[in-house]
Amino acid sequence: MTLNKDQVKGEKVLLAVCGGIAAYKACEVLRGLQKAGCEVRVAMTADAGRFVGKVTFEALSRHAVCDDLYANPETAIPHIDYAEWADLALVVPATANLMAKMAAGIADDALSATLLACPCPVLVAPGMNVHMWRNAATQANLRTLEARGVRFVLPVEGRLACGDVGEGKLADVEDIVAAALALLCDKLPEQDLVGARLLITAGPTREAIDPVRYIANASTGKMGYAIAAAAARRGAQVTLVSGPTALACPEGVRRVGVVSAAQMRDAAAAAFVDATAAVCTAAVADYTPAHPADHKLKKAHEHLDSIELVETADILAELCACKGERVVVGFAAETNDLLANAQAKLERKGADAIVANDVSRADSTFGADTSRIAVVTSAGVEQHKTLPLVDVADIVLDHVRDLLRSR
Ligand code: CTP
Repeated sequence: MTLNKDQVKGEKVLLAVCGGIAAYKACEVLRGLQKAGCEVRVAMTADAGRFVGKVTFEALSRHAVCDDLYANPETAIPHIDYAEWADLALVVPATANLMAKMAAGIADDALSATLLACPCPVLVAPGMNVHMWRNAATQANLRTLEARGVRFVLPVEGRLACGDVGEGKLADVEDIVAAALALLCDKLPEQDLVGARLLITAGPTREAIDPVRYIANASTGKMGYAIAAAAARRGAQVTLVSGPTALACPEGVRRVGVVSAAQMRDAAAAAFVDATAAVCTAAVADYTPAHPADHKLKKAHEHLDSIELVETADILAELCACKGERVVVGFAAETNDLLANAQAKLERKGADAIVANDVSRADSTFGADTSRIAVVTSAGVEQHKTLPLVDVADIVLDHVRDLLRSR
């Protein structure tokens, strides 16, 4: 993204500095943001003060540093006033401890209390030892925070201050500044889907064998939920027809919960009547037991060694068959022959686009927070690199928007 100074001029950034060896780089980040035209104020932990003196940040920012909940010459309630002042909160470096506190909602010092009170977007640049970064607790906190909308400039591999070599090194100052500026320009997403009414299918379906057993698949629904959330942010009216998932309904989205492929078909058909576009991300079961039992089958005498299956309806193909001017986008999760399979689905189902993703890759499989997609249309193939799902969602919605405009 190319940014010009006018776009971020006067934007207010709260720079939150934690106690890590990379704290000195926060000074360069501060200067980089100022050079781009931003106003910066600083909050810091007591431990950060052991690495870089508060005077340095006060001299650079020309404001009092928020490091004490009760003593600030500029304001009586520093954590609230600094939080509400900011257009963006940027944490450099974020320690494992701070990530854990953010994930748990702990506000036991000036910096964590300020972050908890921030209504603005929050961007976090972690910097720590490789083992602390890879620790399951830190990775779980990363996923929790990402799921809540916190953005990250992930650490990179390199020689760490402790002598270890590996992932955990604070990202480059230029990359952190660029990510902050991009977020500032982006923070009010363009309302380019106002007037669009989107049906999104998401998650797996469950096909009952008997009241306690079912056939399902590995879908978590993350992709569909990310698209639903992004579409709502961009102004669309969204109906999310979702199979069973562990995900919370995104803000501003109407969710219709279903269990089986047959229920998903009915709910999707009903929502499609008023829709202008449909995005089918669901991993719908292709087969369902022909004769689900109404009682729990007993393995000793009820022949559980084989289950007769019948094919389910292809929801995407059915929507395409009656779509008229409406836009319909499907997905193709494949493990091999990705583009050939996606191309075949585009033609067979009659969709406007098929989003192909290679689920044999760890960074693009079910449950991952990233995906590597290729968008296949009659115009050709658009391959993207591995991206966080929020960005993938925007790419898919850019196609939906363009297709709607071309009608
Ligand atoms: N789909 C659907 N209803 C079905 C099966 C699939 O709506 N009964 C949709 C999915 O939501 C997705 C697209 O069709 O948008 C492709 O799904 P996928 O499972 O990859 O393909 P299938 O058509 O099931 O073919 P195959 O399993 O042979 O790859």
